[in-house]
Amino acid sequence: MNEKYFLEFAELKTERLYFTKLTKEDIGLLYSFNSSEESLRYIARDPFTKIEQAEELFNNFDKGVKNMEMLWWRINLITGESIGYCGLFNICMKTLKAEVGYGLLPDYWGKGYAGEMAKRITEFGMNNFGLHRMWGRIEPKNKASIRVLQKLGYCYEGTHRDVEFAKNKYFDMSIYALINEES
Ligand SMILES: CC(C)(COP(=O)(O)OP(=O)(O)OC[C@H]1O[C@@H](n2cnc3c(N)ncnc32)[C@H](O)[C@@H]1OP(=O)(O)O)[C@@H](O)C(=O)NCCC(=O)NCCS
Repeated sequence: MNEKYFLEFAELKTERLYFTKLTKEDIGLLYSFNSSEESLRYIARDPFTKIEQAEELFNNFDKGVKNMEMLWWRINLITGESIGYCGLFNICMKTLKAEVGYGLLPDYWGKGYAGEMAKRITEFGMNNFGLHRMWGRIEPKNKASIRVLQKLGYCYEGTHRDVEFAKNKYFDMSIYALINEES
């Protein structure tokens, strides 16, 4: 695995998007996403009600990067607006695997941005970072997110039933994974 990316952050680009390192300046973005019931519809998290919760989330991300367990990007349109964030986490340097996660603000859904973003982060994960296995955990009703990963070749592996609890209910989580056959 290419450990340099924990120190020399990789700024990524696609036709319509560019990805920059998630910093303290993005706490407002983390709060916007995580305080919206619409954004969190399929995510097992109680909506944030205080900005301090977003600060705590950022601090956990920052710690994860320092411990070489996570990489987080802010997603921006080429025109400059920030539209969400994405990351690799549960990174295991020994077995070369990582989980992928992403969230876009609702105003930007349905425009193909998630597909474009996930393709780039998957290419980075497999080709530059050196991962052998990448996976996403998706609530089974989150059809848009399932479609995003399936279009990139991620395969359904199974569903953990009632594995998370938030918002006074249990959540199932399905696993979609991609293997790099060449590494
Ligand atoms: C899930 C999410 C990232 C999708 O973002 P998006 O930019 O709207 O997705 P895209 O436009 O790139 O593509 C979604 C695909 O799913 C399809 N889709 C959307 N809603 C669907 C539905 N209800 N049923 C089936 N397919 C659906 C779209 O048609 C598109 O497929 P296509 O490329 O073949 O046309 C976005 O809704 C989001 O951020 N949600 C909140 C956070 C979240 O759930 N993150 C994922 C956690 S696992």
